Amino acid sequence: MKKLWAGRFRARTSKTAESFSESISFDNRLWQYDIQGSIAHANMLGRQGVISRKDAAKIVRGLREIAHDIAAGTFTFRQELEDIHMNIESALIEKIGDVGRKLHTARSRNDQVALDLRLYLKSETEEIITLIANFQRQLIASAKRNISIYMPGYTHLQRAQPVLLSHHLLAYVEMLQRDAERMKRVYASADHMPLGSCALAGTTLPIDRGYVARVLGFHSVSQNSIDAVSDRDFAIEFLCASAILMMHLSRLAEELILWSTEEFKFIELPEAYTTGSSIMPQKKNPDIAELTRAKTGRVYGNLISLLTVMKGLPLSYNRDLQEDKVPVFDSVDTVKACLTVLHDMFPGITFHAGRMQATARDAYSSATDVAEYLVKKGVPFRRAHEITGKIVLFCISKGKNLDELALEDLRAFSPHFSPDIFACLKPEDSIRKRNSPGGTSPDQVKKQIRRLEKIVNGKQ
Ligand code: ARG
Repeated sequence: MKKLWAGRFRARTSKTAESFSESISFDNRLWQYDIQGSIAHANMLGRQGVISRKDAAKIVRGLREIAHDIAAGTFTFRQELEDIHMNIESALIEKIGDVGRKLHTARSRNDQVALDLRLYLKSETEEIITLIANFQRQLIASAKRNISIYMPGYTHLQRAQPVLLSHHLLAYVEMLQRDAERMKRVYASADHMPLGSCALAGTTLPIDRGYVARVLGFHSVSQNSIDAVSDRDFAIEFLCASAILMMHLSRLAEELILWSTEEFKFIELPEAYTTGSSIMPQKKNPDIAELTRAKTGRVYGNLISLLTVMKGLPLSYNRDLQEDKVPVFDSVDTVKACLTVLHDMFPGITFHAGRMQATARDAYSSATDVAEYLVKKGVPFRRAHEITGKIVLFCISKGKNLDELALEDLRAFSPHFSPDIFACLKPEDSIRKRNSPGGTSPDQVKKQIRRLEKIVNGKQ
């Protein structure tokens, strides 16, 4: 098939060059946006009198038929036509004849590909925001179901202070909320309409870019034609937002892996989302969480990949930019798959309240409460910290927990201890009293659940 740009060429493109440089094998997924953009462009040319309204209408009909063929799976994508833009334009000319050759008036593939990618990312970020909200709802539901279960909170992966499991789960809801906000900002960055850049310098023809932007639902038109065809910062922002989102999912995945070990035994993962071993019959492996953790590496790589593609590019468009799509598509697919599978797996997770709570009781995790008790009696915090440290050392030597000490034992370390200290030593007490804003007390956590539910359900 003859190439639409073949006028100045005598030789045919070599097959190796063709298969090396094609993008149709992956950019075919942009077809809807390409056709949408072409329809808006053709209508604009007709309204402006650049082509007749009759021709514009014919082009639009042809494009709609092509959309129908692609959706029905009867369209043949050809590698020798390089990319989605050429495939559709050639099919249009084949369908409606010479009139089809008018579509490419006052535009360039450089504009088209920038447009398609922006439309694509606007739509995908909206979907990802919905998937994030679905997963957040799942986490909130789990927090509500397990509202009063407590567990050891960790720093340095050492037991530190008792916290509510619901508080821990809501930490992820907060992270995901910021991920959703980031995705909204990516949407806003993509929301500028590049058509009409005409490869790089604009056009001598009387086009109406504002009309095209309105029809395609863009917030504004791009203001510099060179910038519009040559930057991909909006795609990089998407890859960055995706990398951060995956980092959050990966930390959750890591905790699910850790918590499901025999050593922790905090949770049981649902059988439907675990796998067996081909040799060890007893095994139940947390593959979904492991793969989520691992795919994070790919999504990070995608960010570095596009940043590196861009870093040495002179303005404006360079064919290098074709390499933007593989990382972007891969990150879209990966992020959506991870959010979906974690969402589906989550309700099946069993939390072993007994084990979590026993572990929290076992530790010296009320030590901070003892120190704060002394502070309330007028002891400076650093002094209270030291006294409590000595008490812990004493407990270790005696093989006792803090709540197993007698009042005399405690008084040997400080005269400030009275019987009310025993109301501070149980994890439940410790949690109830951590009522500072953002703290782990049931009152605070319930307040956060109400707040997050409002945000996630779009009322704030
Ligand atoms: N397939 C190309 C890409 O993805 C489309 C733009 C091609 N423009 C060009 N002048 N060769 O970037």
